[in-house]
Amino acid sequence: MTDLNVDIINFKINLDNYGSLVPIESYEDVPFDIKRIYYIYDVEKGVRRGFHAHKKLEQVLICVRGSVKILTKNLSEEKIFELNDPTKGLYIGPITWREMYDFSDDAVLLVLASEYYNVNDYIRNYDNFIKEIKGC
Ligand code: TYD
Repeated sequence: MTDLNVDIINFKINLDNYGSLVPIESYEDVPFDIKRIYYIYDVEKGVRRGFHAHKKLEQVLICVRGSVKILTKNLSEEKIFELNDPTKGLYIGPITWREMYDFSDDAVLLVLASEYYNVNDYIRNYDNFIKEIKGC
């Protein structure tokens, strides 16, 4: 059985009297070429998002403000992360189920992605996700 393909990345921070700055470069700070970014915010209490895996896409999730919980799982393992630090990113590799929940009112979740948006890369049905893993 494969290990869960997730990891916390600690970004370098430039901290001075003028504030904090976190630079992120492709291959330097995240293990892929960043082709797309998007961010999620204004998520109402009780809302749970995600409920999918990706066939090829790699992503790094960074909660740049506030906090959010991320559930990740495959067939054999499940891990829950609380993101609440703009200097930490959660890498999520292909064929990993994810759900995002418990967004704080002020949460802004920034996502760096290795590919352009492609609806065909999504696995939205949990049974199909399990089948995809078993076929790997
Ligand atoms: P979706 O991936 O379902 O969000 P989540 O997994 O966080 O619940 O995306 C929500 C909507 O936004 C959906 O209509 C597709 C659209 N979307 C884009 O147009 N481009 C993108 O890069 C992403 C991630 C989503």
